[in-house]
Amino acid sequence: MDTIAPILVTGNLPLSVLENLKREFQVEIHAEDLPMSRSDLLHSIRDKVGLLSMITDDINGEFLDHAPKLIMIANMAVGYNNVDLNAATRRGILVSNTPGVLTDATADLAFSLILGAARRIAEGDRMVREGRFRFWAPFHFLGREVSGKTLGIIGMGRIGKAVARRARGFQMPILYYSRNPLDETVEKELNARYVPLDNLLGESDFISLHIPLSSDTRHFIGNREFSLMKPTAFLINTSRGPVVDEKALLGALQNGLIAGAGIDVYENEPAITPGLEKLDQVLLLPHVGSATLETRTRMAAMAAENLLAGLRGEVPPNLINTEVLR
Ligand code: DGY
Repeated sequence: MDTIAPILVTGNLPLSVLENLKREFQVEIHAEDLPMSRSDLLHSIRDKVGLLSMITDDINGEFLDHAPKLIMIANMAVGYNNVDLNAATRRGILVSNTPGVLTDATADLAFSLILGAARRIAEGDRMVREGRFRFWAPFHFLGREVSGKTLGIIGMGRIGKAVARRARGFQMPILYYSRNPLDETVEKELNARYVPLDNLLGESDFISLHIPLSSDTRHFIGNREFSLMKPTAFLINTSRGPVVDEKALLGALQNGLIAGAGIDVYENEPAITPGLEKLDQVLLLPHVGSATLETRTRMAAMAAENLLAGLRGEVPPNLINTEVLR
């Protein structure tokens, strides 16, 4: 590979990671917090052999048509629903992600949402800041207990399991639903029982989503699923917004089908369904599941390692579409 081969990096990276890339490539970086505009993206990718992309970049067929020289896409995220994998594979373009390094940060956030929604943390903070904390009373500002309650986990991959491990400390029995049921020994270790989806929905006090977004999982949780949940249940979503039908979520909260929700991801990010912001029983965060300094630093380093490997002609450690190599 030509040592001054050009690559595009569409978000800010730690200096040390950027320096590593600059040692081997001519780096064009969009060092801004706001995502690159579509026209800039399409313009900048024309001559590039490598792309280090963010989840806000829509890497679809149109984009790839503008990238005739592209060899490798290193997406700085575990989720890669922003990349049209089939279109990339058809063109022989390698695609990688950053699995593993954000498991704990995301599980921590899911658990924060469980606790925060149940104990009305953000609502309480607003009350104090706005000077509305005027008395203590035995039945004022009550939340729901978390310890000992049943946690339903949908999607028992790395992050689902990490949430289950945290739940053990809260003595929570765990029901789970997943494409691949776990080994019995892992089920025992996690205190988790595999159940059909509808049983999980009907029996859980907290339901936490940990499935990737695909055409099969779009609106995985919608009106039917909300109608099966307990009126005391809380829905937690740190996976991808479109996994939940957000209008159905709004309706379920407004009509008391569920007690509350903790939401980090949205169907049309960064927009949210109007009306959600008016409801105190939903805790809303701005897609920060992996947003710790340590985790984002690891994600950046991992994406860069993948890109370097792919462009050197080696197999990227976290290659997703291995069929490109065949
Ligand atoms: C991921 O890695 O998929 C996260 O959502 C990015 O923060």
